[in-house]
Amino acid sequence: MFAASQAPRSLAKTTKPTTTTKVDLQMTTAQNGILLPLPPVARYLCFSLEPGMPSDDCRQTLAALSALSDLADGERTVVGFGRTLVSALGAEIPGLRSFPALAGRGVALPATPSALWVWLRGDDRGEIVHRARRIEQALAPAFGLDETHDAFMHDGGRDLSGYEDGTENPTGDDATRTAIVGPEQPGLSGSSFVAVQRWAHDFARFEMMPAAEQDLTIGRRRVDNQEIDDAPESAHVKRTAQESFTPEAFVLRRSMPWAEGRRCGLMFVAFATSFDPFEAQLRRMVGIEDGIVDALFKFTRPLSGAYFWCPAMADGRLDLSPLAI
Ligand code: HEM
Repeated sequence: MFAASQAPRSLAKTTKPTTTTKVDLQMTTAQNGILLPLPPVARYLCFSLEPGMPSDDCRQTLAALSALSDLADGERTVVGFGRTLVSALGAEIPGLRSFPALAGRGVALPATPSALWVWLRGDDRGEIVHRARRIEQALAPAFGLDETHDAFMHDGGRDLSGYEDGTENPTGDDATRTAIVGPEQPGLSGSSFVAVQRWAHDFARFEMMPAAEQDLTIGRRRVDNQEIDDAPESAHVKRTAQESFTPEAFVLRRSMPWAEGRRCGLMFVAFATSFDPFEAQLRRMVGIEDGIVDALFKFTRPLSGAYFWCPAMADGRLDLSPLAI
């Protein structure tokens, strides 16, 4: 059983990871990949439920999920369930809801729900390609693969804009407490909630800005990662300062750059024990409270937005007991 307060301190030395490191998580049943450092390469898969025969009675879906549980170790393969899938199974996960399609002045955030999200983590792109194929085969015909996106570590953990990403992430026990549901919710203990948004950067616009303006957009200096105290209220780190919310809004960000052809950006991924902290940050980014829109939108836009529940692990398999499976 997960015991957040007993989790080892070494869990999440995660801000400047360079490689995957095996971490002993004896105390927890969390999907270990959530807490581990970012891998050198990754692939994200999004699946939808294929229409079933009325007589099917979810059997194909259950068989597919059982096969997925055999393949997903929670460490190199992290899995999240969307609300559509949970409701199709006739189950309910308290706190699992749909991504909000928010809008602010000149910005609209798409909500692109998905039944199942798989985050493949590794250090060999070819191995990930084959793992993805095995998972797709295991999930067919109940699930269809809608989206595949490859991601990678850049310059020791920077966004493609060159700014360090993850500096203010909680670490150690705080990371575990932030990302993994504790024993106070026995049914969900060890599980997590993840918000996923694929952002596309417009580097022509970004590069038109002088370096000082780029720094004020983020609110940190790219050269030394120092926070700029007198940055405008629109600066990204001022919009999202986790301690400035009531209650405080901490998340464990595990975002990675992505690139496909000429398009590129950040696959934003944030784990927490509920969607509330992420949503509070997002609402402030689009200016719902005070009309001030996050300066990030000057050069980047989200193409997608979805929420998933990441089950705990039990005996080396996904623990699907909260779904009554
Ligand atoms: C293209 C999209 C984004 C980029 C390039 C980006 C980049 C950054 C950078 C460079 C930092 C400063 C270093 C750090 O503490 O990590 C940062 C901080 C942060 N970002 Fe983002 N971010 C993006 C989207 C988001 C979104 C969608 C959210 C949440 C809704 C978010 C939440 C945060 C938080 C909570 C912090 C730390 C704030 C603090 O407590 O100081 N970011 N981001």
